[in-house]
Amino acid sequence: MPKRPSDHPAGQRATPSRMPAPASGLPSPDQPTPLLGGLTPTQFMRRYWQKKPFLIRQAVPGIASPVTRDELFKLAGNDDVESRLVTHFRRRWKLDHGPFDTTALPRTAQRDWTLLVQGVDLHDDRARALLNRFRFVPDARLDDLMISYATDGGGVGPHFDSYDVFLLQVHGKRHWRIGAQRDLSLREDLPLKVLAHFEPEEEWILEPGDMLYLPPHIAHDGIAIGECMTCSVGFRAPSASELAAQFLYYLAERGGAHRGQDALYSDPKQPAVSEPAQLPAALVERVGAILTKIRWNQADVSGFLGAWLSEPKSNVVFEPPTRPLNEAAFVNRASHDGVRLHRKTVLLYDIHSYFLNGEENSLPSSKKWLLDLANCRALSAKRFVTLSHDSSVTALLHEWYCAGWIELGGLA
Ligand code: SIN
Ligand code: CO
Repeated sequence: MPKRPSDHPAGQRATPSRMPAPASGLPSPDQPTPLLGGLTPTQFMRRYWQKKPFLIRQAVPGIASPVTRDELFKLAGNDDVESRLVTHFRRRWKLDHGPFDTTALPRTAQRDWTLLVQGVDLHDDRARALLNRFRFVPDARLDDLMISYATDGGGVGPHFDSYDVFLLQVHGKRHWRIGAQRDLSLREDLPLKVLAHFEPEEEWILEPGDMLYLPPHIAHDGIAIGECMTCSVGFRAPSASELAAQFLYYLAERGGAHRGQDALYSDPKQPAVSEPAQLPAALVERVGAILTKIRWNQADVSGFLGAWLSEPKSNVVFEPPTRPLNEAAFVNRASHDGVRLHRKTVLLYDIHSYFLNGEENSLPSSKKWLLDLANCRALSAKRFVTLSHDSSVTALLHEWYCAGWIELGGLA
C-alpha cells in the first residue's frame, strides 16, 4: 500500500531570525512559501533537507515548462549542451549521448523514451529564473536545472542519485515511486544506473505544479503518464576523494603546498646500484617526508572552494557583446536599465575575496555593491547611478560587461 505523503503543519508562524534580511528578489528564509508547501525555507531545511523526501502539491501553481518541447529538442542539438536519450523499447534499456539532431529523436507518438537535457539554466533566462527560486540553498551547492521530456511510459528506470534534487512537474503527469532501501546494488548488464532490486514504499502521481524533494540515495522511479516534462533542480555534493584531488591540485598550482620553498628533490648519498629498476627505499622515505610538510589553512580552503565552485563547467562559453559599448555609453545605459549577472555567471564571496567565474580577487573596500550583485544577481538602475560616482566600480563593471559576464537590464 502506498503511504501517505509526509505531512507538514502548513502556515506555521515563522521562528524569529537572527539572520540578516535577504536582499530584495531573494526567497526570504523566514517567509512561508507555497514552493515548500507553506513551510518557510528555514523550516524546510531543518526538517527535510538531506533528511527525508517531501511531496509538495502545487508548489508552483500554474507553472508551464520554462522551455517548450520543441525548444528542448533544439537545445539537445547544440554541441555545448549535455543531453541524453534513454529508450526502453521492447523492454530493453538503451542510453545515447547528445547532441541529437531533432530528426534523430524517436517520434513523439512512440512510447517509452525520454530526453534529458542538463544545464538548461545556462541557455535560457526563464530556466535560470526558476532556479533562482531555490536560492534559499547556498549557490555553492546549486548545480543546474535539468529538464526531461518523456512520452507515455518513458523514464530512466529505478535508480538513486548522489545529490539532493527537487523534481518539479511542469507538463503532463508522472507516476513517482520512491523507497529508502539499503540495497543500492545496480544491474550490471545495463548501460545506465538501474537498481537491481527496487523496493518502492511510497507512490504519487504528480501533476503540473507538484514537486517532490529527494535527499541523496533515495531510490526513485518516475514513469510518464502520457507526454510529460519534469524539471530537476540538482545540488552538487562532491565526494571526499574529488575534493582532496582538486584541493591538492589547487595548492600545487599556487605553490601553496610548500609555502614558496619549492626545494628540488636531492639524493647526494645515493649509492651506485646493481638493480636499477628497483624503487629505492630511501627515495620513498624522503618523498614521504616532503609530503608530510604540506600545510594549508582555512584561507587556502576557502580560496580553493570559491575558485573551484565558481569555475564554469567545461562546456560553458561566454559570449562577449559583438559591439561592446565604451565605458561612458555603458554607464549611461546601465543608469537607465541596471545590470545583471549573465545567467552563466557564478559569483561567490567569502570574507576576504570574491570569486567570479573561477577567478579570485580581493573584495574592494566599497564591497557592499559587490555582495548585493552576487546575492541579487542584479543591480537596479537607481543603485547603479549611486555607484557610478566611483570610477573604479564602473571600470570593473564595464570590464565584466565586455567579457560577457554581466549584461544590461533587470533581473532575469
Ligand atoms: C527524469 O526527469 O526523468 C529523471 C529525473 C530523476 O529521476 O533524477
Ligand atoms: Co534521479
